[in-house]
Amino acid sequence: MGIISRSMVAKKPNETTRLFITTFLGVGFGFLIGVSFPSLSLSKLNISSSLLSSVDFSYIDNRKLGLPTETPSSSQYSRKADNNNRNQAQNLNDTSKIWVPSNPRGAERLPPGIIAAESDFYLRRLWGKPSEDLTSTPKYLVTFTVGYDQRKNIDANVKKFSENFTVLLFHYDGRVSEWDEFEWSKQAIHVSARKQTKWWYAKRFLHPDIVAPYDYIFIWDEDLGVEHFNAEEYIKLVKKHGLEISQPGLDPNKGLTWQMTKRRGDREVHKITEERPGWCTDPHLPPCAAFVEIMATVFSRNAWRCVWHMIQNDLVHGWGLDFAVRKCVEPAHEKIGVVDSQWIVHQTIPSLGNQGESQNGKAPWQTVRERCRKEWTMFQNRMTNAEEAYFRSKAIESSNSTVH
Ligand SMILES: *[C@@H]1O[C@H](CO)[C@@H](O)[C@H](O)[C@H]1NC(C)=O
Ligand SMILES: *[C@@H]1O[C@H](CO)[C@@H](O)[C@H](O)[C@H]1NC(C)=O
Ligand SMILES: *[C@@H]1O[C@H](CO)[C@@H](O)[C@H](O)[C@H]1NC(C)=O
Repeated sequence: MGIISRSMVAKKPNETTRLFITTFLGVGFGFLIGVSFPSLSLSKLNISSSLLSSVDFSYIDNRKLGLPTETPSSSQYSRKADNNNRNQAQNLNDTSKIWVPSNPRGAERLPPGIIAAESDFYLRRLWGKPSEDLTSTPKYLVTFTVGYDQRKNIDANVKKFSENFTVLLFHYDGRVSEWDEFEWSKQAIHVSARKQTKWWYAKRFLHPDIVAPYDYIFIWDEDLGVEHFNAEEYIKLVKKHGLEISQPGLDPNKGLTWQMTKRRGDREVHKITEERPGWCTDPHLPPCAAFVEIMATVFSRNAWRCVWHMIQNDLVHGWGLDFAVRKCVEPAHEKIGVVDSQWIVHQTIPSLGNQGESQNGKAPWQTVRERCRKEWTMFQNRMTNAEEAYFRSKAIESSNSTVH
């Protein structure tokens, strides 16, 4: 009905003919859709075509399916506009009136019901019902920053993580497709960017809104020996002991820097330790408590939401983060700890460290190490300055309010 009345008001006869042909094609195409997708009922098609005109409908459909299209003429566009205005008044609410301040920043014009503020790494199909795409929705995420040379160790690592984990690899050497020699690689997510560090990737690809479905996020190096480690058991212990930020204990015989992360043989978990005399000003502060290293860190969803914000875009080595993550959980000396009964070996393979560049006659690994140290100082300075600025502004605020 709508189609006929519209073509009757068309001014020029040749335009009317063209509209008829387009409409005819549109209806024919709609019929084809109905035949090839029986679940898409004709009544649904009719509803759509009363909102849009059937001319537009066929045009849009062809474009989406990559089929040849016929561009509607400008007069058809203006007729469409008239028609839409009328229909909108009748059928739709005026969407220009939407403004929802509680929506995510920048999305205030959208009705809250359509907003998808969070995402995930679940792989989907290109066909079938979206609601039936996912056969599993892993609750945990593990990421490794890898070079192909470490594939054997990463393969051993991945096998310690059950099907309840999404596996995400960050490739720093540009070699991605070779990993498909491992069956699990085909289900993994691969991100490739040359010569970047774990914290560079984490800042860019692990935004808290993207990793929102995961209860725990493992952000691991590629050189960890996992013979005595099982990820499901680890998570049980982390939950039992209320750890928001944690790491497995480290084999005391290899690559150990801090007492805190040294594995203890006599317990499941420890949250506090003793360092060499004079190293700890406060037994509840790093490096005696509220502290884990950054090589094999595990974050709860909430802790990661905070830590992600603390990571600086330019300080790519993350040195100093280990001393600062305590600012994200309260009380830190109870919620940060080391899991002793699921432990790892730090093999200290200087893989990415060797990818630096020589400068002033210094070896590549030396220039990287120098930058690490420099970044640590810069990070500490930024944190100190930010805290001072905050407390200064607070002091001014409170002195103003006492004056009034
Ligand atoms: C939008 O339109 C529908 C149907 O006309 C009506 O039931 C509903 O109350 C309207 N909503 C608003 C916010 O005006
Ligand atoms: C995966 O998670 C489910 C639900 O928590 C659990 O029952 C199952 O045992 C886990 N799989 C493994 C291999 O532990
Ligand atoms: C406090 O007072 C100072 C000086 O009167 C003013 O410059 C500043 O903006 C005030 N700050 C606040 C937070 O009101």
